[in-house]
Amino acid sequence: MTDQTIEIQPLNPVVGAEVHGIDLRKPLGNRAFQEVHDALMKHQVIFFRNQDITTEQHKAFGRMFGELHIHPAAPSPENHPEILVIHADENSKRVAGNGWHSDVSCDEEPPMGSILHLRTVPPSGGDTMFASMYAAYDALSESLKGYLSGLTAIHSGEHVYRGRYRVAVDDRDRSFPESEHPVVRTHPITGRSALYVNSGFTTRIKQLADKESRALLDFLFEHIRTPEFQCRFIWQPNSIAFWDNRCVQHYAVWDYFPAVRHGERVTIKGNRPFYRNP
Ligand code: SIN
Repeated sequence: MTDQTIEIQPLNPVVGAEVHGIDLRKPLGNRAFQEVHDALMKHQVIFFRNQDITTEQHKAFGRMFGELHIHPAAPSPENHPEILVIHADENSKRVAGNGWHSDVSCDEEPPMGSILHLRTVPPSGGDTMFASMYAAYDALSESLKGYLSGLTAIHSGEHVYRGRYRVAVDDRDRSFPESEHPVVRTHPITGRSALYVNSGFTTRIKQLADKESRALLDFLFEHIRTPEFQCRFIWQPNSIAFWDNRCVQHYAVWDYFPAVRHGERVTIKGNRPFYRNP
């Protein structure tokens, strides 16, 4: 176990940083772990380059941050239930994550973080965009912040997952998670407030009439797409992105069809979202 000398290079002041000087094939020492953890808390999504890691090394890195999550719907490779394969090629009709979302927010205890390692990237395109939900929240008026802090929203997995993995999984008798979460959540480590509704999973705001809920969600989904809240990561083979689902949303851009893009994701379990008045 070695303590490596780390250098952090922000992509912009709002969200995202590259972490250099780390070899994830080796277990991190305490100091290196703390620096990576702190970089994630500060920048919300962090990126590593040239990490030719095995599936086991990927899982070991994820486990340093918590127990690994098993996806409620997607099939996994044999003997690796914690691995989510991310793959697109000339036969793909859709790709994972091609819309703004926070991973599996339909779970009662949605994952705190996700670590994606891509081995094959298209010759061009295939970037992933990340948006800071701290920045999205901070940019709202004090009146709207106050109003939103009293609301909860329903996050549903049914429309996202039903039939999606049809080739590999018969889901006819299956039910999918649905949960109620605060519209604004408090990050359990940083204490900062983040918007926690996303166009992938969030279907309605519980305390409002249908039309009111639709209008408010549409406004928030549009607001979340503001370019100033975002960074864009350009992948290379063996790049890794590690994002904090409690305070960022992401969008996998599918602009590279029919090229191949392939990798694996591990996802780290999280806790029930809550809101605490700052
Ligand atoms: C995802 O985990 O949502 C997919 C992200 C990506 O493929 O860039």
